[in-house]
Amino acid sequence: MSSDISVENTKMDYNKDRPKAKNPVKVMDLTLRDGHQSLFATRGRTEDMIPVAELMDEVGFWALETWGGATFDAMHRFLNEDPWERIRTLKKYAPKTPFSMLLRAQNLVGYRNYADDVAEAFVERAAANGMDVFRTFDALNDYRNFETVVKGIKKAGKHFQGCICYSMTEPRMGGDVYNLDYYVSKAKKLEAMGADSICVKDMAGLMAPYDAFPLFKALKQAVKPPLHLHSHFTSGMAPMTHLKAIEAGVDIVDTCMSPYAYRTSHPAVEPMVMALLGTNRDTGFDINLLAKINEIFEKEIVPKYRHLLADNKMSIIDINVLLHQTPGGMLSNLVNQLREMDALDKIDKVYAELPRVRKDLGQIPLVTPTSQIVGTQTVNNVLFDEGDERYKMITGQVKDLCYGLYGKTAVPINPEVQQKALKGYPRGEEPITCRPAEVLEPELDKAKEEIKDLAKDIDDVLIYALYPVTGKKFLKWKYGLEPVPPEAKPRTMDDVKAEQELLAMAKAGKLVAKKEKPVPVMGENLRKFNVLVDGEYFEVEVEDTGGPPNISYARETAPRQSASPRQARVSPPVPSPAKPAETSAVKEPAKAAVDVSGGTPLIAPMPGMIVGIDKKEGDTVNEGETVLILEAMKMENALPAPISGTITKINLGVGDHVAKNDILCVISP
Ligand code: CO
Repeated sequence: MSSDISVENTKMDYNKDRPKAKNPVKVMDLTLRDGHQSLFATRGRTEDMIPVAELMDEVGFWALETWGGATFDAMHRFLNEDPWERIRTLKKYAPKTPFSMLLRAQNLVGYRNYADDVAEAFVERAAANGMDVFRTFDALNDYRNFETVVKGIKKAGKHFQGCICYSMTEPRMGGDVYNLDYYVSKAKKLEAMGADSICVKDMAGLMAPYDAFPLFKALKQAVKPPLHLHSHFTSGMAPMTHLKAIEAGVDIVDTCMSPYAYRTSHPAVEPMVMALLGTNRDTGFDINLLAKINEIFEKEIVPKYRHLLADNKMSIIDINVLLHQTPGGMLSNLVNQLREMDALDKIDKVYAELPRVRKDLGQIPLVTPTSQIVGTQTVNNVLFDEGDERYKMITGQVKDLCYGLYGKTAVPINPEVQQKALKGYPRGEEPITCRPAEVLEPELDKAKEEIKDLAKDIDDVLIYALYPVTGKKFLKWKYGLEPVPPEAKPRTMDDVKAEQELLAMAKAGKLVAKKEKPVPVMGENLRKFNVLVDGEYFEVEVEDTGGPPNISYARETAPRQSASPRQARVSPPVPSPAKPAETSAVKEPAKAAVDVSGGTPLIAPMPGMIVGIDKKEGDTVNEGETVLILEAMKMENALPAPISGTITKINLGVGDHVAKNDILCVISP
């Protein structure tokens, strides 16, 4: 196969006499969505996009990605910004370039499938507010989850971009599932659905350059719509992969302005513009204009966000992604999860179990939310399986997946695992084979009724329908019914300046340390804590001088004598969500032993929050029957009764946070 790229012109000044390329590579800019989502946890504010928006509108981008993905969630939850308002505001500053959004198909911009009426209203409103390109994906590549939103996109006369989530089971493209035929057949399905363009979405940066080349060559031959590549830099391969995809004839690629590029973000636009200069695929972009935009970013915007950079490692690539072919974000979640459970030593077992769990669950792609579903189940298996019994603790989301609520998996789910997962499943033990949203009741009228006192229009209703708890809170901030917390307010350049001045003084030795006070004699309330700050170890001693400990919540932990060595660990204090101000983080929880008296305690196997209690005191239960639902790492775990008997005590309520090894209830035979 030959490459379709050639240098046409070497003698030119790129400011003038630059011939237009025969087939310029089109570029979508991701700076204002995936860029800050990848680097700064989606905390970019609209006011920090305005200073560059007009200039970015002049570059000639195919589209500006400005919305979707996590923006809707982060804006209303953390930034006190109306997500709809961002589209309308940016549109005023950048009216020429189409706006693109990332749409999670029937999940819209949330984490579960919404009913059809919500999906229809959401797409209609996104289009009406100014969205032009709807980049649509489904975590399972099950295009039945596209049906409702695509109808809406077409009805609004907007651009439907269909995505194929790029996934693999081996270190290179191929194998039984995610091979060339898989991608070609998915692309043909999207073409048949009326896709205006087709995107291969390599969300984890797994695509190797020499897989990109045959992939895009084959897709180019198989389908007519323009082809688009979305890749992340995470593993370090993306710029090479882009170039090979361009050689193979890809039409559009995704980049960021350089201050928002690389690390877990995307390749930068500037090196690509120069790499293609004078070729038949020259972008035609003015490098001086790009430099001007970068200067604004560096001077006026980036300083406000630097502190949010996820790590300060020297390396800007994540080599683990190359080793395990698994998204970087998923790997760091696994490590955090194991750390919370004091089981970091089991990481190698987790790496070994991960491909087995994924295979059992139908070799699904690993992208939000399937990466969390597979990851958490893997950790559960490694920590809780005993002897020959596998899948001892199955999360609610794995049960939903086995039921068919997310859609059809790439290969069938292991029937043994499926049967076990669906035993006693409330929707039924027989999995569905229909389009998942068909089993969902309409939700919009109910949401309208529930929020009618707060919502002023349909856009408000949708914020609530998608995010009932945080959405309602946001609407109260929006209409001045509740004060906006300080952490939701923007950071200004003055804040940054003040910090930098302080830092400069400290470096110059001009900060004078406060005169030390004499150390008072410590009383019996003295507690010793080991504290790690950025990897540095401190021993901190804290004394409560206000008399007896003021504990605003009652929670008991396992008695030392009756528990195994692991269970004997005193639980760390967990602040009560209801009264955070009263619960000092340095106080230990009440350690009064629960009166187990002949009963058997149900112990929290991991830290988390109680989200459901199926039984009450006095109820009889059979061994293995669900008593409580514990949410950990966004996944729900049904905790079964350890013995048959009567529940003599339940120690917690819904919404309570628990530490590992807390006694949740006692069952007497
Ligand atoms: Co992305």
